[in-house]
Amino acid sequence: MNISIIGSGYVGLVTGACFAELGNKVICADNDAEKISHLKKGSVPIYEPGLEELIKLNLKNKRLKFTSSIKAAVQASEVIFIAVGTPALENGEADLTGIENVARAIAQNMDGYRLIVEKSTVPVETCAWVKKTIATYIKKGHKFDVVSNPEFLREGSAINDFTHPDRIVVGVESIKAKQIMTDLYQPLNRPILITNIKSAELIKHASNAFLATKISFINAIARICDKVGADIKEVAQGMGLDNRIGRYFLHAGIGYGGSCFPKDMDAFITIAEKLGYDFKILKAVRDTNEEQKAFVLQKIKDTLWIIKDKTIAVLGLAFKPNTDDLRNSPSIDLINALIQEGAKIKVYDPQAMEKAKKILKNVVFCKNAYQAAEGADCLIIATEWNEFKELDFIKLKKKLKRALIVDGRNIYNPKLFMDLGFTYIGVGRGNG
Ligand code: UDX
Repeated sequence: MNISIIGSGYVGLVTGACFAELGNKVICADNDAEKISHLKKGSVPIYEPGLEELIKLNLKNKRLKFTSSIKAAVQASEVIFIAVGTPALENGEADLTGIENVARAIAQNMDGYRLIVEKSTVPVETCAWVKKTIATYIKKGHKFDVVSNPEFLREGSAINDFTHPDRIVVGVESIKAKQIMTDLYQPLNRPILITNIKSAELIKHASNAFLATKISFINAIARICDKVGADIKEVAQGMGLDNRIGRYFLHAGIGYGGSCFPKDMDAFITIAEKLGYDFKILKAVRDTNEEQKAFVLQKIKDTLWIIKDKTIAVLGLAFKPNTDDLRNSPSIDLINALIQEGAKIKVYDPQAMEKAKKILKNVVFCKNAYQAAEGADCLIIATEWNEFKELDFIKLKKKLKRALIVDGRNIYNPKLFMDLGFTYIGVGRGNG
């Protein structure tokens, strides 16, 4: 099929590259001409495992093209995916300006039937607005369908998530749209759930909100564990073995972050409010996530007493491993809070250093974990990179001024560290 993807960010690039790999002819468009000129040469502006290789391969075999002209993209393709950003406005609401602009541009450039697929994360009823916008600006009486096809890609494993999704959700209003979407995804051989458009839109927000709820729930249980001396790892394992609960997203830590969960929670709470429903559960989930960061800071204070002038090493800056994404990273929030208290901060992350240099001021950027630990009063694990699980802890201890580990992601065995002579503080490991 001839497909266009409007918006060449994480979602757009992964979707475009994967559809090209499946044998379609794909055009990825973006209004950032500089980005497009890099992409044309196979240079990818984001770190996502396997993406650059996939883009280069499909550029070479001419299944993938890049353009800064929406017109060219719209005219060359029957199926057009909208994958532009939907950032949060001040009040938490999703900013849909980009979606409206694209919908209008599609309408103005259509020269025959088009299937417009809404892929960006948007509040329920956005597709209805896209449909109205296209109907308003369309030139001749060309026919079109609008479809909701939310993405469930996780950064760091986005390509695998695209090719092996648990389910593909497609919200449609016409048999033709259903047929095209089924044909498009059929090569993946994964379950396709066909729903109405509003259900599909809601599935996305409801799924992310539920996952965030699981994380805040386990973080709340971790607080209780610390109070009574239970171990959250054991509690989560015992809960997760119940098939109805499942073991995923039950890792306690310094809170969830990233470009999706915090933004989607705000947007979902706001849209619910607009619809006349006070989504109290989600407000509590969001508050618990904020409290979690403050709670870890308090743990550090309870051990170090005075933070001012102490040297603190932070391992991990990205909001989770296998990405260089710092958006809403709890690690960055924690670092800023420590700086406010007067701490001297040394940091190391396997991928996110370049991006961090743009947003973190007055911290020392180190080449590796050992350099960060040198002379530090405390070492914090803020992101669970595999690299940190395999450090030489005896060497690490020699580098530290004080052998104090705050394991903000519970990646270590507390006993092992205590045997090595460290003071070990985890999240819900029963030790304060
Ligand atoms: C998420 C959704 O998983 C994905 O379906 C959606 O399309 C986009 O948002 P992503 O933000 O890439 O994906 O990351 P994810 O792996 O879901 O993690 C989100 C945050 O939750 C991270 O900060 C992570 O550290 C945290 N997390 C996750 C926990 O603290 N505990 C857990 O058990 C799981």
